[in-house]
Amino acid sequence: MSDKSFSIENENLRIHGTSLDDMLQIFDGEIPLQKAQIECTLGCNLNCLHCSVSAGQVRKDELSFGDILRFIDEFYAEGGLYIVISGGEPFSRSDTIDIIEYATDYGLSTVLLTNGTLLNEEMIERLSQLKIYEMQFSVDGLRETHDRFRNTAGCFDKTLKSIRIASEKFKNTRILVKSTVSKFNVHEIKDVARLAIDTGADMYAIQSLMPCGRAWQLSEHYPSPGEILEVVRSLIGLFEENPRYSIGTQVKPVFLPVEVPSFFPYLGSCLSPTLVGMDSRGDIAPCSVMTDTFLRAGNIKRKGLRELWRNSGLCDKVMEILKREKKGICKKCYFKDTCSGVCKKLAIDMGDIDLPSPLCQQLYDSGLFPEKYLLT
Ligand SMILES: C[S@@+](CC[C@H](N)C(=O)[O-])C[C@H]1O[C@@H](n2cnc3c(N)ncnc32)[C@H](O)[C@@H]1O
Ligand code: SF4
Ligand code: SF4
Repeated sequence: MSDKSFSIENENLRIHGTSLDDMLQIFDGEIPLQKAQIECTLGCNLNCLHCSVSAGQVRKDELSFGDILRFIDEFYAEGGLYIVISGGEPFSRSDTIDIIEYATDYGLSTVLLTNGTLLNEEMIERLSQLKIYEMQFSVDGLRETHDRFRNTAGCFDKTLKSIRIASEKFKNTRILVKSTVSKFNVHEIKDVARLAIDTGADMYAIQSLMPCGRAWQLSEHYPSPGEILEVVRSLIGLFEENPRYSIGTQVKPVFLPVEVPSFFPYLGSCLSPTLVGMDSRGDIAPCSVMTDTFLRAGNIKRKGLRELWRNSGLCDKVMEILKREKKGICKKCYFKDTCSGVCKKLAIDMGDIDLPSPLCQQLYDSGLFPEKYLLT
């Protein structure tokens, strides 16, 4: 760990921010696979401008119901604890609730990412009977902004309706509303957070628009580091007024006042020996969006999970990348041992897997990097 004397009193950091060295020590060399991230389909009813996976059409060779259940069996046998089901739009598959039921019957902490527009009351009622850990609904602005960004008139109202019904029916499932921050919505984020609270959601989260998939065409809409700082500042008061709420975030921790307990930084890595991703064809990689990179290990329809993850050397490759010397601002950052830096898919696409986070680097270069997070 760093030798910085500054210490951050936020329990969430201890839960989410374990360094590779600490993990190796805790697990005596063989770190177990704990989390899986599944893209259950590439099909989607929306056509969002920013979609990181360019969703829309179902792939010809998508996973069958049986393939996904077999993956869950193998993941559980490996010691898996936590599964994230995303897409595409998961509910554009007719068997998604059955898949969720299968995962929750194993006791897996199950997280669903959805646009919420294909859910009806009956489906939400059935979902509310399952022990789902978290349902994440994407809301990227107020009505006009959201519909424009998500490229579909009327989708805002449908999503809001589903969140309201879910907030009423779910007793033990955390309802999270998440916004992708961009120049489209930066001025509205506080209102969206307020709306999330009004609908009865338990948590609000932000992430920054990433260059990935269709969002490569949106370069003029990426938020600047100053805008992200501004958004975070605008949320502090709101969450102080509503201490029950917290802000979960995939925005890097240096943008956050992480000493404030209501801020819940996501330090976990998209690259970790504990995490495996599977795309909707069954291709396996450290994350479901990395299956078209050199980190693709093979396909679950042809080989077992242990074979693909551990025996193929993929897990070792991940650890080798994580152990490398950090570059740029990441080298000087308080979080260098617990944060894996920029999204590794983006880094690979930009030609350097060790790239420091461009947003953090810009923050530093523009003199806005918080001094308390700089190692001396
Ligand atoms: C790919 S979507 C799949 C789940 C579901 N269809 C939805 O929209 O919530 C998962 C999450 O990724 C976010 N996302 C999509 N493209 C993104 C991008 N280019 N940058 C950051 N987040 C993105 C979405 O807003 C959503 O919250
Ligand atoms: S972000 Fe979600 S809802 Fe939008 S196109 Fe992509 S998969 Fe579909
Ligand atoms: S500077 Fe690097 S290590 Fe620090 S928060 Fe940003 S990406 Fe993570």
